[in-house]
Amino acid sequence: MVAIYGTLVHTPVKGKVDILLNTLIITDEHTGIITQLQSNLPRTEIPTFLKEQHLPEDTNIRYLSPFQFILPGFIDTHIHAPQYPFTGTCTDLPLTEWLNKYTFPCEKRYQDTDWAKSIYQVLVRRLLRNGTTTAVYFASIHLEATKILADTTLTMGQRALVGLVSMDRNAPDDYIDTTETAIHKAETFIQYCKERDSRQILTPVVTPRFIPTCTIPLLEGLGQLAKKYNVPVQSHISESLDEVAFVRHLHPDVESDTTLFDACGLLTERSIMAHGVHLSDKDVQVMVERGSGVAVCPLSNAYFANGVFPVKRHPSNLKMGLGTDVAGGYSPSMLNSMRQAVISSSFWQDEQRQVDWKTALYMATIGGAELIGLSHIIGSFMISKQLDALVIDLKTDNSPLDLLWDEPIELLVEKFINLGDDRCIIDVLVGGNYVTP
Ligand code: GUN
Ligand code: FE
Repeated sequence: MVAIYGTLVHTPVKGKVDILLNTLIITDEHTGIITQLQSNLPRTEIPTFLKEQHLPEDTNIRYLSPFQFILPGFIDTHIHAPQYPFTGTCTDLPLTEWLNKYTFPCEKRYQDTDWAKSIYQVLVRRLLRNGTTTAVYFASIHLEATKILADTTLTMGQRALVGLVSMDRNAPDDYIDTTETAIHKAETFIQYCKERDSRQILTPVVTPRFIPTCTIPLLEGLGQLAKKYNVPVQSHISESLDEVAFVRHLHPDVESDTTLFDACGLLTERSIMAHGVHLSDKDVQVMVERGSGVAVCPLSNAYFANGVFPVKRHPSNLKMGLGTDVAGGYSPSMLNSMRQAVISSSFWQDEQRQVDWKTALYMATIGGAELIGLSHIIGSFMISKQLDALVIDLKTDNSPLDLLWDEPIELLVEKFINLGDDRCIIDVLVGGNYVTP
């Protein structure tokens, strides 16, 4: 059981920050579910409250300081786990050349399971330290290494959606599968995750890498798997000008990525499509009708996408989360994705299109939860949701920010979003368990 008293900050409504003062939050010991959420409760009245709720008098409560607050854990809706070794480098080429020169050779190495073990441990620890309580991973085409990634997230207590990458064309000879093998591996991995997930924090994801590396029979086979097992789908959609041109060359009669994914049964209520910078209004309409959404990746969009994803121009019922897109994005920290979402949108002349930090925080938490179909479980604080949360402390040793005068809590939160880093994230909870690395 976790009981914390202090300030809670979340964004249940897009563009607005909700600050809950003098709040007591308590979870169920076994399920991690929030059972009590009482705001504006003076500290002196806590004993009476506990009594009324039939909770033990000696409940061990953690009292936060005035410079500490709780945020929902961040949800990274698009990250490539095997690319972590070259994060922070190699963003100097257009997408297709970048894949061939840096990405495929790096991903190929995960045939070696010892390598996979060592890298995935470092990555999951780094993500948890940076407040990513849920990550939606692309792994590689390797079954064993992808199982290792799933096991690592389970062992370290991170909530995860993990996809074994499917490719059967336009990839190197030693980093590609036949259609049958790709489908067989994807299915075996889904079954593996379903057997392992006793705590319901691991979800397998059907993962066609993107249209250029998948034949139509593969896309169709994966669409059938998503339906058979009722699992989410992830891919890249209308990402960059070179990708759009490649698809046009491969499928001259097909209108867009969206049309083809849809025809193959890959646009579902649980489809997480990365980038989408070059989606037409019609594509977006189709995605909205299917209940699919976009993992917006502002950092990698800045390098590869030849444009900015227009968060505010699209209909408000298009699901949208944020992703780091490591290693196309240079940082594993969702704070950097939030900042870049704000910066990129500031280049729109039209103020209506600009994304503020509150909207970025929404996308990094409850927006991401909606995108991945978990908004009934995580993304904000509510009785009956799970407690996936970060304890933020702005006055830790070696803090990256200075507090020099009286600032209201809302400005303190904004300061953290703009200037904070993992030094300020002193604790991380997933499902009511401390998983701080
Ligand atoms: N499109 C296909 N593969 C990738 C990838 O690994 N990263 C990005 N950003 N786009 C892709
Ligand atoms: Fe990506």
